[in-house]
Amino acid sequence: MAAASDPRERPIAVFDSGVGGLTVLHELLVQLPGEDYLYLGDTARFPYGNRSAAELAAFSMEIAEELLARQAKLLVVACNSATAAALPVLRERMRQTTLGVEVLGVVRPEAVQAVAATRNGRIGLLATPATVESGAYDEAVAAADSHVALTSVAAPELASLIQDGSEFDDRVVEVVRGYVEPLREAGVDTVILGCTHYPLVQPMLQRLLGPGVGIVSSGSALARQVEHALGASGLANPRSGEGDYRFLATGDPDSFRALGSRFLQLPLGPVEQVTVSREAAA
Ligand code: DGL
Repeated sequence: MAAASDPRERPIAVFDSGVGGLTVLHELLVQLPGEDYLYLGDTARFPYGNRSAAELAAFSMEIAEELLARQAKLLVVACNSATAAALPVLRERMRQTTLGVEVLGVVRPEAVQAVAATRNGRIGLLATPATVESGAYDEAVAAADSHVALTSVAAPELASLIQDGSEFDDRVVEVVRGYVEPLREAGVDTVILGCTHYPLVQPMLQRLLGPGVGIVSSGSALARQVEHALGASGLANPRSGEGDYRFLATGDPDSFRALGSRFLQLPLGPVEQVTVSREAAA
């Protein structure tokens, strides 16, 4: 992908703590096939879900700088933990850059979709401890409808269990059942998957939650927001065919490739290893 002089031809950058954000990229590739994409997985520092807000803000800034240097026209924070902890800081810093690149995150589109979907006014959230502790979903749900009640469950083990790549055996089912229990007790009719990894256990979650509970994940709602943002800023790629997608990983590129295709459900091309951490570069 050579540097484009027409800003519409620049790539959309997507980043995550690892391979989980490929579930979000998948939706973008399906809903907006004509765009080019540049995905960065911070696999060297995965998982993000137990890190502090200050750490996540610093990591997100380092990654954003790398992606802007690679000509991104829009920045998508696919990681729920990073969105919850760092989106306002990141937006503020991006506003200060001369490029004026817009930053979109996963929390708000999901909260809006869940509020629109609930019939009994009770929503559940399943997310990492960092995301739950940030209160970002409480704020986003309250902003969409202050009469809707949110029950949040932190699932400290789930993302790593999924990323691990091993078979979903009875042990995984029992771990998931333990996370689902408080949501069943609260009588929620809609559950937000507040972590990029959870779509991979969606059938298991649906079975344990029961068929009457709707599940909202971030990919499709976010893809619509990306489409609107590109339309409003005149940055949509005019191409009629399919665009290109490329990958950067801060950790081992071979394990990214091996794990990544399961999450993307599309062929993965070459993966370039990149250093974004100022500490590691020093
Ligand atoms: N991308 C992360 C999230 O959505 C996955 C979990 C993690 O890194 O701990 O929160």
